[in-house]
Amino acid sequence: MLSNGFLGYPTTFMLDFVVCALALIVPVLLWSLWLVKFRRRYVAHKRLQIGLGIVLLVAVMAFELDVQIVHGGWEKIVAKQLLSPDALSTKINTVRPWLLVHLVFAVTTPLLWMVTLTLALRRFKNPAAPGPHSRLHKTLGWASTIDITLTSVTGLLFYYVAFVRS
Ligand code: HEM
Repeated sequence: MLSNGFLGYPTTFMLDFVVCALALIVPVLLWSLWLVKFRRRYVAHKRLQIGLGIVLLVAVMAFELDVQIVHGGWEKIVAKQLLSPDALSTKINTVRPWLLVHLVFAVTTPLLWMVTLTLALRRFKNPAAPGPHSRLHKTLGWASTIDITLTSVTGLLFYYVAFVRS
């Protein structure tokens, strides 16, 4: 069952799961930012950001294990489309640049996210409230937000060109 996707395309369960997580993460993040910026709900923002961090970490680790170890790489998943050998290699060469662009954001996001989260947990007081760390946190927080949004957009674009578009 886990070797097939559930969105109706020839993919895998984990790939479809991560695509759904990528699509959901941006609205949840916007909600968390709305809470902190306009409602001053600092503790709710803190809990949501920790929750998002855990979901991201678990989803990405499970996804990488599944794609790399269980399925032997993303090219093997593209091969499930049963194209001719020529069409398959053309497709792989066409979609690879999309993946490389996605990877720029997908690799930097967890690093930035970890720095933002760790410094916030160490430097804000408990319960969370504005303080001397606010200035740096806002810069790191907006950089993390932009990075993860671009990870999400480029990830969804890669999914579309590799698995949806025929
Ligand atoms: C990676 C995780 C996080 C991200 C991406 C993030 C993002 C942000 C952003 C963008 C803002 C500024 C909103 C504005 O422009 O007013 C903000 C504010 C704030 N965040 Fe986070 N945050 C994260 C984790 C945390 C954690 C774990 C805490 C608490 C320990 C926290 C506490 C705060 C507080 C207190 C403010 C208000 C700062 C102020 O207005 O002076 N954040 N966050």
